[in-house]
Amino acid sequence: MALSLKEIRARALAKGVCRVCPACDGRACSGEVPGMGGAGTGLSFRANVSALAGIRLETRLVHQVHFPRTGTEILGLRLSLPLIVAPIGGISFNLGGAMGEAEYQEAIVFGAADAGIVAGTPDAVPPEVMRAGLAMAERLGEGRAVPFVKPWEPEKIREKLEMARGAGCRVVGCDLDSIGLVTLRIMGNPAYAKSQDDLAGIIDSAHGLGLSFVVKGIMGPGDAVSCVGAGADGLVVSNHGGRVLDSVPGTAEVLPAIAEKIKGRAAILVDGGFRSGADILKALALGADGVMIGRPFAIAAVGGGREGVALYAETLRAQLEQAMIMTGCPDVREAGPGLLHR
Ligand SMILES: Cc1cc2nc3c(=O)[nH]c(=O)nc-3n(C[C@H](O)[C@H](O)[C@H](O)COP(=O)(O)O)c2cc1C
Repeated sequence: MALSLKEIRARALAKGVCRVCPACDGRACSGEVPGMGGAGTGLSFRANVSALAGIRLETRLVHQVHFPRTGTEILGLRLSLPLIVAPIGGISFNLGGAMGEAEYQEAIVFGAADAGIVAGTPDAVPPEVMRAGLAMAERLGEGRAVPFVKPWEPEKIREKLEMARGAGCRVVGCDLDSIGLVTLRIMGNPAYAKSQDDLAGIIDSAHGLGLSFVVKGIMGPGDAVSCVGAGADGLVVSNHGGRVLDSVPGTAEVLPAIAEKIKGRAAILVDGGFRSGADILKALALGADGVMIGRPFAIAAVGGGREGVALYAETLRAQLEQAMIMTGCPDVREAGPGLLHR
């Protein structure tokens, strides 16, 4: 019998991945880093969820939108909906070893492909974490995975960019905000902040290898403009799911000001607390081109493997379609602030 999301969640709970709360909002897991929570008091994780909850869509029923188009293209990647699975690394210490690293990346990369989307894959200590994701990207082919490299020293980043190219990837990212990750420091492998010149050098190397480059972890227009100035092809507005600094705003709060500065010059992705198709539509209305989702995909992978990941993505697509019908939005590429209730 086909799996249901309810069954998947029950299985993930049984494997002890986290508490699998009805609302994944960072309340029960405050401070659980390593783990699935947010840093410190968990305020930043909760701010993601509450910022989104404060944004509402306006229904519009007098229209002719019967079959809205959810498909799009971001950085040359064709997507059945504007969604990329967020990279999650350290399954052994963050998800209590509920799955092997390779098994996890296989479920994510292939499950995303089954649903017509793409997965981000992580970098971490030890290096096997990145290799596991790249091995899956290579097996799947066609560059349909986006590896995220940690902000190590530039030479080590370049090596990893070459590995990504070798695995057939076309888009790579760097989670610049990992400089705040306690887990890297615990493991004696801190990452480093980058100047705009450092970034420009790294991005040049990526472009030289034919790779588009995305900077993840941007929370303000100043950094956004610097990254685009350094040549970034895309940004992920993100606070790393609230895991790198307590007391920062929710991503939905900062997204409009960032979009105002760089919309059209670089692809804009956003993550943190997005859980439903309506949430995805809100992100587009606030200026994003697409969304990344982390923890719920981890639960889907642990509870249902590849099938669970595909099922969650398909559910989001159906919910997005429903939200578009209810707001009279014919095409995700036309979504804008007019969809919001002011
Ligand atoms: C357990 C865990 C591990 C993560 N590992 C990484 C990682 O290796 N690289 C990265 O860029 N982001 C990592 N993230 C952050 C996610 O990519 C993403 O930004 C965040 O989870 C989005 O918030 P959400 O989980 O509320 O959807 C991790 C998040 C969690 C919860």
